[in-house]
Amino acid sequence: MKPIQVGLLGIGTVGSGTFNVLKRNQQEIQGRAGRGIEITMVADLDVARAQSVVGPDVKVVNDARAVIANPDIDIVIELIGGYGIAKALVLEAIAAGKHVVTANKALLAVHGTEIFAAASAKGVMVAFEAAVAGGIPIIKALREGLTANRIQWIAGIINGTTNFILSEMRDKGLDFDVVLKEAQRLGYAEADPTFDIEGVDAAHKVTLMSAIAFGIPVQFDKAYVEGITKLGAADIKYAEQLGYRIKLLGITKRTAAGIELRVHPTLVPAKRLIANVEGAMNAVMAHGDAVGTTLYYGKGAGSEPTASAVIADLVDITRLHTADAAQRVPHLAFQPDAISNTPVVAMSEVVTSYYLRLRVADEAGVLAKVTGLLAEAGISIDAVLQREADEISGEAATQTDVIILTHDCVEAKMDAALAQMQALPTVLQPITRIRKEELA
Ligand code: NDP
Ligand code: HSE
Repeated sequence: MKPIQVGLLGIGTVGSGTFNVLKRNQQEIQGRAGRGIEITMVADLDVARAQSVVGPDVKVVNDARAVIANPDIDIVIELIGGYGIAKALVLEAIAAGKHVVTANKALLAVHGTEIFAAASAKGVMVAFEAAVAGGIPIIKALREGLTANRIQWIAGIINGTTNFILSEMRDKGLDFDVVLKEAQRLGYAEADPTFDIEGVDAAHKVTLMSAIAFGIPVQFDKAYVEGITKLGAADIKYAEQLGYRIKLLGITKRTAAGIELRVHPTLVPAKRLIANVEGAMNAVMAHGDAVGTTLYYGKGAGSEPTASAVIADLVDITRLHTADAAQRVPHLAFQPDAISNTPVVAMSEVVTSYYLRLRVADEAGVLAKVTGLLAEAGISIDAVLQREADEISGEAATQTDVIILTHDCVEAKMDAALAQMQALPTVLQPITRIRKEELA
């Protein structure tokens, strides 16, 4: 049978990996797909660079619409990124009856509802394994492997750049900016790295996992998003002393009130496997009622790891494109008429435990006042650590750091208690609050 023809839009980090892996492993991939898969046309703004990647036998153009208009192309891969031209091109490819593969989590987390509806109406597939956790086949696991389960929660390290930054800061004592530059050089970071460090990229990914796990629409606008830019080296050190590591986690949970959807730095017990995921590696924990807790680990970014997921989607489409549309796996795991309107709960309603760090005047009675306010608010304390005075030198010798771990309480209650503690004259700096999850 003639190979299935693929058009590639954007041949940068992931696009070049996709072209190279597909070429290198073509025989095995054909054996699995039952048919050859060939990238026969590429669009990129830099035609000369693209041509040097693909060689003289592949047609390269600078107009992506020429690829979509080519009647020989069956599948379009979008690897440009962003919400602008990428959205227009994906919708145009669908309208032209092409199946689409994309790694663009930003696009799907924000415009997924519109894109999946357009694809269903046209009877084409939109596959996005590479959009979440790079090379880890987490979409397949959630959508198919765990299909028997009522999923209870998912928690994941799903941004390689921030995990790389946190690991290097902890292990090597390197500065934030130095490590970020290295992540950019290695091709992990987004075109706009603020998406990585402010938690937006992780929120895009957890939004997609939440929709698949709980059968709700993709609702990025409902996610609570907090990045790592305000984390201090002191917090990484104190967390360590208390038996925890700080990770940027994407968390989504089913609760009686609705679905939690949040990204923030999180203290995780150092003994958990996920706490030991270092560098640009990703890991996702998913808990289902039947299977219990499962863990998926691997490279979450980079040229060939991400290409691995893109090509898995190409193989799936090649196997399924002649099947009746009703027999295919639904985009969001649930059939469109089974998607529910279960609400996403506001962050103020989330119940979790906390790490608090207060820089206070080193005077009698200060700790009692702080813990008294927590007690009045009905917030139970799990542990207290006071930094020894001799670790603070010079002017700061009259100050001390008090670190408090609490038991679970609702976020609104903690917000109110924090406001009261912050107003104490003996609390000298803004209080650091980091959420804590036991992931038991
Ligand atoms: P790159 O910036 O490396 O590649 C994008 C490519 O698209 C560039 O070659 C760019 O050309 C080209 N391009 C831009 N505009 C157009 C256009 N209008 N028509 C044709 N080509 C165009 O990005 P990545 O490969 O890193 O990322 C691609 C997608 O994959 C993004 O959605 C990203 O979020 C996602 N992703 C990336 C991962 C990674 O590890 N890098 C991992 C998982 C997902 P030029 O450079 O000349 O502007
Ligand atoms: N910028 C992303 C990361 C790429 O660092 O994880 C993978 O989606």
